[in-house]
Amino acid sequence: MTLRVALIGFGAIGQRLARGLLAHPDAIELTGVLVHELEPARAAAVGDLQAVRPLLTDQREPWLAARPELVVECAGHAAVDAHAEAVLHAGCDLLLASVGALTDDHRLARLRALATAAGRQVLLVSGAIGGIDWLTAARDAGLREVVYRGRKPPAAWRGSPAESAHRLDALDAPTLVFKGSARQAARDYPRNANVAATVALATLGLDLTRVELWADPGVAENRHEVEAWGEAGHLLLRLENRPDPENPRTSLVTAHSALRAVLNRCSAVVL
Ligand SMILES: NC(=O)c1ccc[n+]([C@@H]2O[C@H](COP(=O)([O-])OP(=O)(O)OC[C@H]3O[C@@H](n4cnc5c(N)ncnc54)[C@H](O)[C@@H]3O)[C@@H](O)[C@H]2O)c1
Repeated sequence: MTLRVALIGFGAIGQRLARGLLAHPDAIELTGVLVHELEPARAAAVGDLQAVRPLLTDQREPWLAARPELVVECAGHAAVDAHAEAVLHAGCDLLLASVGALTDDHRLARLRALATAAGRQVLLVSGAIGGIDWLTAARDAGLREVVYRGRKPPAAWRGSPAESAHRLDALDAPTLVFKGSARQAARDYPRNANVAATVALATLGLDLTRVELWADPGVAENRHEVEAWGEAGHLLLRLENRPDPENPRTSLVTAHSALRAVLNRCSAVVL
């Protein structure tokens, strides 16, 4: 028995994920890849991704008619809005990479209600962040405080509110550019929303999980840090993720996190 899997999105994550899924033909059947624009997707479906070419479509109905059991979204918040409800209505489970889309309480409640009514599940990738297993277990044991710290080189904050508050080019020491709740961070710094939202949804929620964003001239690549205190103990986690060469704003590990989540749905032993 193979698991029938469909994708939304064929960018950095979608391509790497498709490659991983195609490498497991005994376990996975890729039924379709829904994209926004066909031409760039076709141009990417070459070499070891050639098998994806006939599966690409920009039409949702034929894509759903191929009866996937699990749909993986790796296309952005707008794609969650456009397709998540139809996917659940069609009786598929839905694995989301764009976890930041769930910082909208209304959207989260609607997806929860639809999944419950359809008897399906909405699953969230851990993506660029680690330690989610410990955090969710520690939440059940009782968590007191959780802080997510995002640390980037000053230039990486261009185009964010940090740019108007600080002279990014002139920073010579780590500088706190944002401190507040995960909900405020998602609103003011949407490019960081996926990781901050994942930590918050796994722990104390969007209002009680604290976020600090640092412009740090001492780091060359983006860093994620999580610190948590509770009945289960103290967690201090630091990740230095490599960017995906296809999209430097996405960590390479994200596609592998989605692949692992899919393979776990059809593995005899799951970790
Ligand atoms: N959870 C995490 O840690 C994490 C990390 C990185 C990225 N992400 C999320 O994953 C998303 C994809 O990342 P990426 O690096 O692959 O991006 P990308 O820009 O390389 O690719 C996006 C793909 O989605 C397609 N697309 C966009 N809107 C669509 C729509 N409405 N319907 C169908 N397809 C659509 C595009 O055509 C493209 O193929 C990001 O937007 C982000 O929300 C999550």
